[in-house]
Amino acid sequence: MDVRSVIQTKRDGGELSEEEIRYFLGGYVRGEIENYHAAALTACIFTRGMTSRELVRWTHAMLHSGSTLSFPEVVQKKADKHSTGGVGDKVSIPLAPAVAACGVAVPMISGRGLGHTGGTLDKLESIPGFRVQLSDDEIHRAIDRTGVAFGAQTKELVPADRLLYALRDACGLVESIPLIASSIMSKKLAEGIDALVLDVKFGSGAFLPDPARGRELADVMISLARGMNVRCSAFQTAMDRPLGRACGHVLEIVESIECLSGGGPEDLRELVVLQGGEMLRLAGVAATLDEGRKRIAQAIDSGRALGVFELIVREQGGDPRVLKNPELLPRAPDADPWKAEHDGTLSFVDVRAIGHAINALGGGRTKVTDEIDPAVGLVWRKHAGEAVKRGETLCEIHHRGGRGLEACRALLARGARIGASVECSPLVLGTIAG
Ligand code: URA
Repeated sequence: MDVRSVIQTKRDGGELSEEEIRYFLGGYVRGEIENYHAAALTACIFTRGMTSRELVRWTHAMLHSGSTLSFPEVVQKKADKHSTGGVGDKVSIPLAPAVAACGVAVPMISGRGLGHTGGTLDKLESIPGFRVQLSDDEIHRAIDRTGVAFGAQTKELVPADRLLYALRDACGLVESIPLIASSIMSKKLAEGIDALVLDVKFGSGAFLPDPARGRELADVMISLARGMNVRCSAFQTAMDRPLGRACGHVLEIVESIECLSGGGPEDLRELVVLQGGEMLRLAGVAATLDEGRKRIAQAIDSGRALGVFELIVREQGGDPRVLKNPELLPRAPDADPWKAEHDGTLSFVDVRAIGHAINALGGGRTKVTDEIDPAVGLVWRKHAGEAVKRGETLCEIHHRGGRGLEACRALLARGARIGASVECSPLVLGTIAG
């Protein structure tokens, strides 16, 4: 077998065998296959696609390209949630402790923000002291003590994806359903979970804006999970507007604590209750989705979920006082309103631009090595579809001495409109129950 023949097979529309895939991904991870060969093969997969059995082989080889997690000592079922991401999406932060409070363990390996989307790990790290770079032992200890581990992908976990995702990003080869599905599922299936809920976003702030493409991705990911004996459901949810009111790391932690305290925006609570409820159903702890939803709502309203979050913050080195005193979180020194220029109805035409408006303030990354300012961001005072009057505040801009403020305002004007009344898409467009 040689590298060129594997690439040529795919270039000509052929199907890669298990042997060819193992040879290629194994060689790539060991540094025996060059980046340019991997880029060529990835480009051929991007244009030619993959058959279902080829995708299963590819995902399997990615998953076993390094170590995987397993929790034989944990008696509870293990479940996780993955979102394809967007602006203001902080669901994982209140959801994981709420699910753990209902008796299901959540080993959650998350990512960092890049481009217009924020990342769960960056948000958690905005809590002073909070550590996400956990060793295997620390992940096991966190699960044992709190029911949750919020961790980052290690060097050993799915190294093929770490290399390939960076390569695809650099070469403009991200938006391919088989490549996205294998990338996400290899990481999630490496967590040793029994159940997985997928939140596949649609709309202008989503990675795949078209709901039909999102549905295709969801179907492929569900079938990969089932093939590996993991129960899996997906929800298609709205990212044609920001989720919740707060967008920006610290601001989203504050909103997550509000949600865990029984308050916060309705859309955030609805997704936490829905997706957490489905995790309980898939894990066999609730008989129906309705029962699961009720249990999550009770865990929040009784304060148990907030109690678990406090344990997690302590366990992962964070300062638990921020739960009661959010002013201990790093705060931007300045806040300015962004006001409506005329009467009308607020709508969002380009949610990516809203994400980039936060980046302009210093609150995001355009490349993985960029530093972020966790304190800056936006708090929406009006929501999509709401009537507004000229001069009313649409959102507050939290900034540091005017840094990026003008660019932020220009991007907000590109992303949001005030016009005639608009129809809002439903928060949950579809459910694919596993
Ligand atoms: N997220 C991932 O983890 N991988 C992709 O390919 C796209 C989004």
